[in-house]
Amino acid sequence: MTSSAPAPGLFIAFEGGDGAGKSTQAGLLSQALSDAGRTVVRTREPGGTPVGEKLRSLVLEHGQGEIDAKTEALIFAAARAAHASQVIAPALLRGDIVISDRYADSSIAYQGTGRGLGTDAVASLNDWATSSLWPDLTVLLDVAPAEGRLRRTAGAAQEDRMESEPDDFHAAIRGAFLELAAAAPQRYLVLPAGDDVPGLARAIAQRVQELLQHHAAMGAA
Ligand code: TYD
Repeated sequence: MTSSAPAPGLFIAFEGGDGAGKSTQAGLLSQALSDAGRTVVRTREPGGTPVGEKLRSLVLEHGQGEIDAKTEALIFAAARAAHASQVIAPALLRGDIVISDRYADSSIAYQGTGRGLGTDAVASLNDWATSSLWPDLTVLLDVAPAEGRLRRTAGAAQEDRMESEPDDFHAAIRGAFLELAAAAPQRYLVLPAGDDVPGLARAIAQRVQELLQHHAAMGAA
């Protein structure tokens, strides 16, 4: 599968384990780009649309009854289909920069590897669901499961259905993300999640700047 984000916008996804600090970095990048005069659409998955937010509660909250692996993958894919067609694709056509907290790689890692559905099957499902809309750049914040758990619980937030899975589930997911990045290094920026928030933000901003220059040279964003 190739990146097929339509010109002239730019699509950046943040991925990584729970507690990697994606939201913080996505927020800092959005702010920096807005300050530089860019129009940024900041969004998240699962969610990003009214139907997606409903699906988010269905799949993440405890107490919904049994949700088997295929049902889970299809709920995430349904939320993503709405997100891609209603929010991301129109924004890219307008020339905006879309920054999403998680996207299809989360399904490939969590449902494909974590739930054992297979990465190829989940990638194909998501390719179909999004009409082959894949990010121009994925920032992968790599975090060890124990550290991620520590960071989450430090915030005292209650763990959702995914977060409360054991560390070996999260270790498998970490490996899946790293494999995706290794298979297409030109479309990923892998950084070790850490406490140096400004340092990480600088590294991300630099890579995005290079991408914007490349796009400008190609006559796009
Ligand atoms: P969220 O509260 O957004 O957590 P985070 O801040 O870590 O992104 O919860 C999203 C959870 O759903 C997270 O545990 C990952 C999981 N998830 C999947 O399993 N598959 C998916 O396709 C997506 C988008 C998320």
